[in-house]
Amino acid sequence: MADAALPRSIIRTLLLPEAAGQRVRVEGWVRTRRDSKGVSFLELNDGSCLDNLQVVVLGDNPVQEALAPVSTGSSLIVEGLLRPSEGKGQTVELHPNGLTLVQAADGDFPLQKKRHSFEFLRSIAHLRVRSNTFGAIARVRNALSFAVHRFFQERDFIYLQAPIITASDAEGAGEMFRVTTLDLERLAGAGQALDWSQDFFGRRAGLTVSGQLEAEVFALAFHDVYTFGPTFRAENSNTSRHAAEFWMIEPEIAFADLAANRRLAEDFIKAVIAETRERCAADFAFFEQRIEPGLLEKLDHILASPFETISYSEAIALLEQSGETFEFPVRWGLDLQSEHERYLAEKKIGRPLFVVDYPREIKAFYMRANDDGRTVAAMDLLVPGVGEIIGGSQREERMGPLRERMVELGIPVEDYGWYLDLRRYGSVPHAGFGVGFERLLMYLTGMQNIRDVLPFPRTPGHVDF
Ligand code: 4AD
Ligand code: MG
Repeated sequence: MADAALPRSIIRTLLLPEAAGQRVRVEGWVRTRRDSKGVSFLELNDGSCLDNLQVVVLGDNPVQEALAPVSTGSSLIVEGLLRPSEGKGQTVELHPNGLTLVQAADGDFPLQKKRHSFEFLRSIAHLRVRSNTFGAIARVRNALSFAVHRFFQERDFIYLQAPIITASDAEGAGEMFRVTTLDLERLAGAGQALDWSQDFFGRRAGLTVSGQLEAEVFALAFHDVYTFGPTFRAENSNTSRHAAEFWMIEPEIAFADLAANRRLAEDFIKAVIAETRERCAADFAFFEQRIEPGLLEKLDHILASPFETISYSEAIALLEQSGETFEFPVRWGLDLQSEHERYLAEKKIGRPLFVVDYPREIKAFYMRANDDGRTVAAMDLLVPGVGEIIGGSQREERMGPLRERMVELGIPVEDYGWYLDLRRYGSVPHAGFGVGFERLLMYLTGMQNIRDVLPFPRTPGHVDF
């Protein structure tokens, strides 16, 4: 039987030649079982790394008895001696003297040895985390989160938790999910009009689309701040890059202009890629092999070369000269579509590029007006394979132009008194950006669909698990 006195070892720490000779206890799930000529081989995984620990049970081993019902997916506690492996494919193997079958998985456990499509795996998001690909993604997601915090913490940024329920539509795009406690069914049944003053907050509220406006408040007290939290958009776009719930990282820096903002974004992307790649080397080797051949070289290239910067007007000119036929024809004033972004990033420039100074008409109210009267100090970072991963800007710090723009766009100025106050009491030039955490993960791992880098994706029509 398993000896409770022995502490549990993490499998990742055991798969090294120098670990051999130890007596260890491991806890995990069987990935595969193979029996041949009186020997059974179990591949045990505990999520700590891609590789499994091979458990070898010889025919005369008394634990053979407990082994009979062990199948793929079963949970086990195994104790024994770690020995250098004679087989190839692993450095060490575990020879048990204790084996507890915690639960035998039902025979229809869906993750059998064969390869499954990502689509099928999405339908079993509660089990796909036990597969190689989703295990690797979860570990990279974890390491990337940590790298995000480290980057900002080492630079003295204050981390703020922006509210999730809010009354302000920061992007002004009308994509907020409503938060309400009104009994909508009863009201609809009674044919009654909705009266938001009767609602929980006494006014319309929703889920945040961005923590930026609150981050601006904090930046005007702490100089440099960042948020890192969930954001929600009721965007009915069923693309491989949009989710209804995603995570965003939003730094906001005071006494700063768009150039400083760009430098921060470039430093950030490079630093988090470098750290994550180093920490999850085995997972990245897997992505290179199975998901995106050339991935490691791509990442090296990103780290080694400076990002490009072009203006929106230059981007339009490049697109017009491209000779490509786009589904959405280009002309100055139109928003860049994903096909345009990808042409620029993939075919034209071939590495990450900032597009700056967009037409004011296609950008949010808070962006600082440029002197030309028709563009704003916006920046998007476009990358090959994914398109936009960052959207940011220098903010309009001048009361007059900001107020005028809000009125022009029909934004209820009276609801944003607090935001305008920032322009009355010690206003300073400031800037910031939002990084789509999942889009960054897609870029880093080569995964093609945002649904496969979110633990439990929420998209139109899908809110399972
Ligand atoms: O460009 P966006 O809309 O910018 C903002 O929200 C600003 N308030 C950010 C700021 O300046 N502080 O969103 C920022 C990023 C996008 O570049 C994209 O990577 C990601 O958020 N994003 C989404 N990711 C997944 N699903 C969606 N529906 C997304 N919408 C935006
Ligand atoms: Mg954007």
